[in-house]
Amino acid sequence: MKLAVIGTGYVGLVSGVCFALKDNKVICVDMAEEKIEKLKRAESPIYEPGIEELIEQNLREERLEFTSDLGEAVRRSDIIILAVGTPSLPNGEANLQYIEQAAADVGAAMNGYKIIMTKSTVPVGTNEKIREVVARHTRHAFDIVSAPEFLREGSAISDTLHPDRIIIGIDNPELRETMVELHQDFTDNIYVTDIRSAEMIKYASNAFLATKISFINEIANICEKVGADVTNVAVGMGMDKRIGSSFLQAGIGYGGSCFPKDTNALIQIAGNVDYEFKLLKSVVEVNTDQRYMIISKLRESLGQLNGIHVGIWGLSFKPNTDDIREAPSLEIVETLVKEGAFVKVHDPIAMDKFREQFDHEHIQWCSTAEEAALGCDAVCLLTDWDHYRQVDLRMLGSVLRKPVLIDGRNVFSEQQIAESGLEYYSVGRPRMSGLNGLSPSVAGAV
Ligand code: UDX
Repeated sequence: MKLAVIGTGYVGLVSGVCFALKDNKVICVDMAEEKIEKLKRAESPIYEPGIEELIEQNLREERLEFTSDLGEAVRRSDIIILAVGTPSLPNGEANLQYIEQAAADVGAAMNGYKIIMTKSTVPVGTNEKIREVVARHTRHAFDIVSAPEFLREGSAISDTLHPDRIIIGIDNPELRETMVELHQDFTDNIYVTDIRSAEMIKYASNAFLATKISFINEIANICEKVGADVTNVAVGMGMDKRIGSSFLQAGIGYGGSCFPKDTNALIQIAGNVDYEFKLLKSVVEVNTDQRYMIISKLRESLGQLNGIHVGIWGLSFKPNTDDIREAPSLEIVETLVKEGAFVKVHDPIAMDKFREQFDHEHIQWCSTAEEAALGCDAVCLLTDWDHYRQVDLRMLGSVLRKPVLIDGRNVFSEQQIAESGLEYYSVGRPRMSGLNGLSPSVAGAV
């Protein structure tokens, strides 16, 4: 089939690349010309493992094109995919300015019947607005489809090629066959429903996953007080198929471009129809508080923060991405420097993005995890990059001024800590000290 994808962010670019791999002819469109020029050279504007190789392959095999000419792309395609951003407005509501503009541009460019498929996450009822906007700009017939995207950053390609399910929202039953045909190479698990339900499935799914995270984080906080270990609790809970084991990893909370934005948007969507979504409001509140766990554990172990030196391991909101949008690291580092602490940060790839957002004379940018720890009073692990699992903890104990490790993602095992000589704080697990609290050199002599 001939597809045009409007917007080359995560959703648009990954969808475009994956549809092209399945032998469709795809034209990806973006207003930003410098982005398009880079993409034509197979240089990706987003960090996503494997994407540049696939862009290059698709370009070579002539299934994928990039252009900033939306009109031409629309005219040459049968299905137009809207994948522009829907960022948050200050009140939490989704900003629909870009999607409405894209709908107007698509309508104005149409030269015959088109299927307009929305992949951007949009509030319930938006596809009907899109229909109105397009209709105002064209006399040609068209249909609207809601096809929300569930990909995760860092595993976006395999999530798109092998999804758990595909959700299609339509109001014209004749579209079912075309939509199934377009998606069946990815999975047979295709659920076709009405447009409003499809829009809601996306928000409800993200809100539910965020709820699981805040739930296990609160269980973790209680575990600390009653002497249980949340990692064991999560294993036991996850063995119940009704609960499932995923998204029960306690830590310093969720971040990223989706969960914070979509939970706030759903609270607003409910509020707009006079419904207070109490549970989801608490989920958001718990997530905000959870970040400060790092700060309170630093206070617990070192007393005041003014003048202390802290090493920070990991800035991105999760591993395998350079994305720092809504990352807990932003608030944690800002709070530390505000309190007068000196911070040495390390991240395998997200340091440049972080520095664009926040810089301060108290921050030192380090090229290795070891350098970030050298001479510090404590190290705080904020992102569970595999990189940090490889660090020799005995070495860490020897380069720190005080052997304190605060692990915001429960990365290290009891045994690793036992051999390390570190005073170790994690989330929802008993406080642990290595080598009976003795420094490695002394302990070695015992
Ligand atoms: C998420 C959804 O998973 C995806 O379906 C949707 O399309 C977009 O939002 P993403 O933001 O890429 O994807 O990240 P995800 O891997 O889901 O992680 C989100 C956040 O939750 C991260 O900050 C992660 O560290 C945190 N998390 C995840 C936990 O704290 N505990 C967990 O058990 C799982």
